[in-house]
Amino acid sequence: MDVKKILSQHIEIDGVSGEEIYSLVTETADSRLGDFSLPCFRFAKALKTSPVKIAEDLKEKFDGCEIVSEVRAVNGYLNFFVDNKVFSRGVLAEAAADGFGSSRAGNGKTICIDYSSINIAKPFHIGHLGTTAIGGSLYKIFKKLGYNVVGINHLGDWGTQFGKLIVAYDLWGDREKIEKGGVEALQEIYVRFHREEETRPELTEQARHWFALIEQGDKRALELFHWFKDITLKEVDKIYKRLNVTFDSYNGESFYNDKMQPVLDQLESKGLIKTSDGAKIVDLSAYDMPPCLLVKADGATLYATRDLAAAFYRKKTYDFDKSLYVVAYQQNLHFRQLFKVLELMGCDWAKDCVHVAYGMVSLAEGAMSTRKGNVVWLSKVLDKAVEKAMAIIDEKNPSLENKAEVAEKVGVGAVMFSALQNARIKDITFSLDKVLNFEGETCPYLQYTYARTGSVLSKAGNIVNARIMPDYSALDNDESKELVKLLNRYPSVIADAADKYEPSVISKYLIDLAQAFNRFYIAHRILDEPTARQIARLTLTKCVNKTIKDGLALLGIDVPEKM
Ligand code: ARG
Repeated sequence: MDVKKILSQHIEIDGVSGEEIYSLVTETADSRLGDFSLPCFRFAKALKTSPVKIAEDLKEKFDGCEIVSEVRAVNGYLNFFVDNKVFSRGVLAEAAADGFGSSRAGNGKTICIDYSSINIAKPFHIGHLGTTAIGGSLYKIFKKLGYNVVGINHLGDWGTQFGKLIVAYDLWGDREKIEKGGVEALQEIYVRFHREEETRPELTEQARHWFALIEQGDKRALELFHWFKDITLKEVDKIYKRLNVTFDSYNGESFYNDKMQPVLDQLESKGLIKTSDGAKIVDLSAYDMPPCLLVKADGATLYATRDLAAAFYRKKTYDFDKSLYVVAYQQNLHFRQLFKVLELMGCDWAKDCVHVAYGMVSLAEGAMSTRKGNVVWLSKVLDKAVEKAMAIIDEKNPSLENKAEVAEKVGVGAVMFSALQNARIKDITFSLDKVLNFEGETCPYLQYTYARTGSVLSKAGNIVNARIMPDYSALDNDESKELVKLLNRYPSVIADAADKYEPSVISKYLIDLAQAFNRFYIAHRILDEPTARQIARLTLTKCVNKTIKDGLALLGIDVPEKM
């Protein structure tokens, strides 16, 4: 319910537009002074009188509306008290309806989101949690706002490591063992390659040769390349299912092999390419950046070359309004260079490309490196979290039904939430004990609160549906009022999260909502009240229940009905 809008429609000031009034009305921090307030200082010049007088005149002129119970003019402010019954009735009707929080803001607009973008034959490690969780959430948020969303997994499926893998496989690999062991088995021989390469430099040469064969389309080389890819995709698919993320395209780096030359030609014809020691670069010194290297002296293209081709391909294929890249901040320079080159090429849509950067995730145990093999596999972190969740359930509620299913939701949710809880740019140190604490600002706390609302509702049975007018005076208390106000904010919270590309806006909101519900739950009876009052409180509970579930779904997190 947009109270600001209703108020601004009832206020008329000469020479001031309704939009301006709307933008000036704010929710007050201290509800003893009123619920909403219009500061009148801005109008003093135009109306040639004091703000105090303006506020008083506006109060006199105010013709009243259902939502306002009282208006006061105080020191140049026009303060409004909202009629709590009318407000509660309106907000709860909206919050109880299907699709609460959705909008049509994005109708007719397309947004591309490049996220997760894992590397083939390499571990899906905890470093990819951020991009997968944040990108997956933005995908759902923009969908909810009516956008046409294209989720792109820009697979890292090109590069000399595939030559290395073939050499390693030929030397030490066993087809059956790898089929069974998956990426971890591939990883083992890859690590071995790096170890042995140090004393056997001919291996490096052989790897280069095999990669060249892949590039030339050699049958056996390609077959092995695709096999590595299949193994990886089959495995990550299981993780994506657990994390509730989906993609519309898996066009990875190799997809752009035949799409780079036209872009390079265009750069050449625009006079943007310089040759430096045989390499082709775009000089960016005028923009305080190192040159963007596009073709090495030996003719090899680079990550940036493929990203450039991908940007054009996406614009042509999807005609996006925005194109997001959810990638770690370590790649800040890469994206600044990429977008600058697009701009220099005269692409006016370069401004619609956004690097949605996020911070590092590290475990207390220390750094992660693929080469040395001390990798923190995401699937193992998830398994561990689920195992721990199971132990907690066994201790707290051993007779719970579907324990395994609940533990999966709690464990995986806890890990996901930890990546979505803070401003994305922050580095986080991950600790299972912390994210699985049921009392902190955590996912289990949200899930537990959800289950609590569910248990109240199921105890109430069918009362909510009875044909009795709810008595909203049962919500005339601070705890209920706070909850109703919070519920009313949900649509704007989603819009704000989208504007900032920041799922944490929703995470923080959900924590506030759950905490407010628990305060309400402790302070007030819900069930032992006259029916009409019960229904008002149950409706409120139902709306909280629905909103927690919906908000968590936007983060890609499932809720157990019982915990
Ligand atoms: N595969 C890359 C990595 O793991 C991320 C790719 C991000 N997307 C892109 N279009 N560059 O670092």
